[in-house]
Amino acid sequence: MPRETLEKILALARWAPSGDNTQPWQFEIVSDSQVAIHGFDTRRYVLYDFDGHASHMAHGALLETLQLAATRFGLRADWTLRPGSADEEPVYDVTLIPADIAEDPLVRHIESRSVQRRPMRTTALSQTQKDALAAAVGGGYTLQFFESFQDRLAVARLLWQNAGIRLTCPEAYPVHRDIIEWNARYSEDRIPDQAVGVDPATAKLMHWVMQRWERVEFFNRYLGGTIVPRVQLDFVPALACAAHVLMRPPAPPRSLIDHVHAGMEVQRLWLTATALGLHVQPEMTPVIFRWYTRSGRSFSALPELAVQADRLARIFEEIAGATPHESFSFFCRTGYSMPPKARSVRRPADSLYVG
Ligand SMILES: Cc1cc2nc3c(=O)[nH]c(=O)nc-3n(C[C@H](O)[C@H](O)[C@H](O)COP(=O)(O)O)c2cc1C
Repeated sequence: MPRETLEKILALARWAPSGDNTQPWQFEIVSDSQVAIHGFDTRRYVLYDFDGHASHMAHGALLETLQLAATRFGLRADWTLRPGSADEEPVYDVTLIPADIAEDPLVRHIESRSVQRRPMRTTALSQTQKDALAAAVGGGYTLQFFESFQDRLAVARLLWQNAGIRLTCPEAYPVHRDIIEWNARYSEDRIPDQAVGVDPATAKLMHWVMQRWERVEFFNRYLGGTIVPRVQLDFVPALACAAHVLMRPPAPPRSLIDHVHAGMEVQRLWLTATALGLHVQPEMTPVIFRWYTRSGRSFSALPELAVQADRLARIFEEIAGATPHESFSFFCRTGYSMPPKARSVRRPADSLYVG
């Protein structure tokens, strides 16, 4: 097998989604048919990574994309987690094996799949589409759809209150400040401001305000600074979609590999939605704040935020009909829309190689 085949597969695989476009992976080519994927996570400085779980899901999305990409070349990609690798730096050993295999129909959606953070149409999903999405997710994971106006309104309220935590949490501020690339339509290593989902005037104001936490605090306290972003980023998009979708695991995740598997299912779901002409926006912050509160872990020095997160976890559980012990893997909204005009792209493939 020529080395270029492996390089082409990796070049495609790197289009997998990752939280805030962090792309927590590097590639070490071991031979023409073997690559070691060096994963990392951002838990030390990204509040939303919660013990690295969001990064582990991104690793899963990468491995799933790699397996799909391999089918383009008649190859099967087998991977194992290297024994003894640390959760902070997991290594996944991948071997490509010639197989009598046709290109998977999802492969041609790998690069066009992208987040849509702007309002979508409310045209309902057909039963066939819902069945296709549910079938895309294997391994005992299930999907729950929230479609009616009442259901979407309940989610919109949840996201509105959840955004109250996100926007007033001092620990989240450096993340928001650093992940946006300003005055950009595309970004290789962050999220371009034009893909964030606010109008240009709000983006300009956000850029100025977000340069200093004191400005954020002042705006939030005296000028209702959270209202416009909450309306544009949370409330309106939550109503303007066909459905919210909650992916639930067969059992609570116990180890890194469970989060990796969840990420694989997320990517299958997202690519299948893309193949159906739908767009997706993950809505992970309610899941993440619930992880914190249900694990008895603190995410902020402000005690009132823990109280709010606890209340919201209960509201989320009421919406989903779940007990506090049941886990949520992934939450997103979906629907039809024009393709997003701005998006995150990826670091050049060459920059991802190590060794
Ligand atoms: C585990 C995970 C969590 C994510 N959470 C969110 C989220 O809460 N809100 C959001 O708008 N996008 C979220 N995203 C989407 C990423 O920001 C997006 O995939 C990344 O910026 C790359 O952009 P692209 O998917 O358009 O290529 C998430 C992605 C992953 C894999």
